[in-house]
Amino acid sequence: MTSPIAAYLAEDQVRLGALLAQATAVAGRIGEAPFSAFRGGLLRHIGMEEKLLFPALKRLLGAPHPAVARLHRDHGAIASLLVPTPTPLIVSALRAVLEPHDALEEAVDGGLYAAASRRPAAEAEALLEAMKAVREPPQSPHNDSPAAFRQIAHTMAAANIDHPVPTGPAGPG
Ligand SMILES: [Fe+2]
Repeated sequence: MTSPIAAYLAEDQVRLGALLAQATAVAGRIGEAPFSAFRGGLLRHIGMEEKLLFPALKRLLGAPHPAVARLHRDHGAIASLLVPTPTPLIVSALRAVLEPHDALEEAVDGGLYAAASRRPAAEAEALLEAMKAVREPPQSPHNDSPAAFRQIAHTMAAANIDHPVPTGPAGPG
């Protein structure tokens, strides 16, 4: 049976996937409102994992889970892709990071969420409540500076994501 922790996080990923699909429903353009909801929700999701789930898992195992280093590098790439104004290329790069990332977290055998769920019930409940209480962080305005794009190139290379990297803001039209 799926644990409440695994179910909560997986459902949140489904919700975020639906927002991204909504934001890209019209080819060639990005829907501002659904993308903003996706961006805020994804930053919150990453925050829950980095601040609550990964540390809880480390306490449980006595050492970091073997997948955490890679997931952390993916989070860096995701966060950097959320900085500039979204374009179709940025969205496709985000998907290239998110698809294997979410699969690794959700895998039934050896997945991170499954590992995090193997804990005493009272403790699992406290972790779930703490995650539910996490608010969306305030969103910074998009930043299309050269430094923001250099950061994307850096984090995508560090995460070893094989996908074209946006090198600057989309031109007019
Ligand atoms: Fe994650």
